[in-house]
Amino acid sequence: MALRLTVIGTGYLGATHAAAMAELGFEVLGLDIDPAKIKTLAAGRIPMYEPGLEELLGRHVAGLPGSSGRLRFTTSWAEVAEFGDVHFVCVNTPQKHGEYACDMSYVDSAFDLLAPHLTRPALVVGKSTVPVGSAARLAARLAELAPAGAAAELAWNPEFLREGFAVKDTLHPDRIVAGVASENAERLLREVYSTPVAEGTPFVVTDYPTAELVKTAANAFLATKISFINAMAEVSEAAGGDVVKLAEAIGHDERIGHRFLRAGIGFGGGCLPKDIRAFMARAGELGVDQALTFLREVDSINMRRRGHMVELAREAVGGAGSFLGKRIAVLGATFKPDSDDVRDSPALNVAGQIHLQGGQVTVYDPKGMDNARKLFPTLGYADSALDAVRGADIVLHLTEWREFRELDPAELGAVATRRHVIDGRNALDPVLWRKTGWTFRAMGRPNA
Ligand code: UDX
Repeated sequence: MALRLTVIGTGYLGATHAAAMAELGFEVLGLDIDPAKIKTLAAGRIPMYEPGLEELLGRHVAGLPGSSGRLRFTTSWAEVAEFGDVHFVCVNTPQKHGEYACDMSYVDSAFDLLAPHLTRPALVVGKSTVPVGSAARLAARLAELAPAGAAAELAWNPEFLREGFAVKDTLHPDRIVAGVASENAERLLREVYSTPVAEGTPFVVTDYPTAELVKTAANAFLATKISFINAMAEVSEAAGGDVVKLAEAIGHDERIGHRFLRAGIGFGGGCLPKDIRAFMARAGELGVDQALTFLREVDSINMRRRGHMVELAREAVGGAGSFLGKRIAVLGATFKPDSDDVRDSPALNVAGQIHLQGGQVTVYDPKGMDNARKLFPTLGYADSALDAVRGADIVLHLTEWREFRELDPAELGAVATRRHVIDGRNALDPVLWRKTGWTFRAMGRPNA
């Protein structure tokens, strides 16, 4: 009989995983402790913006016209335990308030609430990003609490999805990592992922700690790549070089590659910043903090980018070096394009700093306005890029949405007070903007 799957926690990761597993042909039951979220998902809607996800849900959520009916949602732990052979734990592991370490309370409570209901053989699969060592601890907890005893097993199967590409990354991952402690667990995971594996996705079997580390190491590497190119941007700017050309040239070396070398105002979001901090905190607990001191530098180069953007804007708006009485148009609020996520967004951080220093800031973002308004209610907001730029002394391009690349600089120039733009993402075309009379500055590039 085909395996039946459950997904515990229906945020970004969980909602996407549940819909993707239904797409692969499994019967899936999703659980969340938030009844409002369950109600939204059961109606085929998602509480965030993610391209393609609502369509995928619509194809499978039970009760929707024309759906496969393979995907249902509940708030009942007993129902989940009764239904599933394999339970994917996809809950959040945010940064602890005021600390580097990650907050494991959602993961711990998911295990504590599920395990006492596990009366028959089951595989619990952790997908959340956790400090190395968590899986071994959670396996022991499972053995202690589950009535099924050793028949309730644990596997660790980290998730690498990117916001904006969540559906594609889940259905067609670069690799599947299976941290297991038994052949049975490996067999079950191979069965779940048989479709992507058959299509050529590498399946890497490891022990628990290696599986946990693969995820944190991958994110640490990506963060390092971004901070490396941002460090080169600092040097290029001081030396009169062009970091965009530099990145292009070093990227032709296949060992380096072109991706994740876009200099700008740095990385943000719900993953990279908190994951490198939690990694450092965990290394400290393991007595190897020296191994990761470089991540402190990665973090500080990244945070410096935001301050540098504010300084560039200050220099540009006036000789007196003050934002008072100046109007600043901010294009972009989300931490990256194709997402409505504003968690630790460099764009909003820059907008907030300028606002606190007396600038009159007006923000526009294609999808992030609601979330931005909730987080920074005192900033000004406009309904379009054109409206944000109207009367502006300076335009700051801070999230590289396609919509912004397609703007007509001549049209914006006609409504701006001063034609001054700073590209914080190195994504706009300097030639195009300069041609229409704009003073164009970018990060790590020479002024024309
Ligand atoms: C990241 C990882 O990519 C993903 O594998 C993991 O599962 C979760 O964390 P995500 O947070 O969605 O995914 O964003 P990502 O696309 O990695 O971008 C992170 C940040 O880096 C964004 O703020 C982006 O603007 C910035 N970035 C990215 C750069 O500044 N320069 C680049 O070259 C690439």
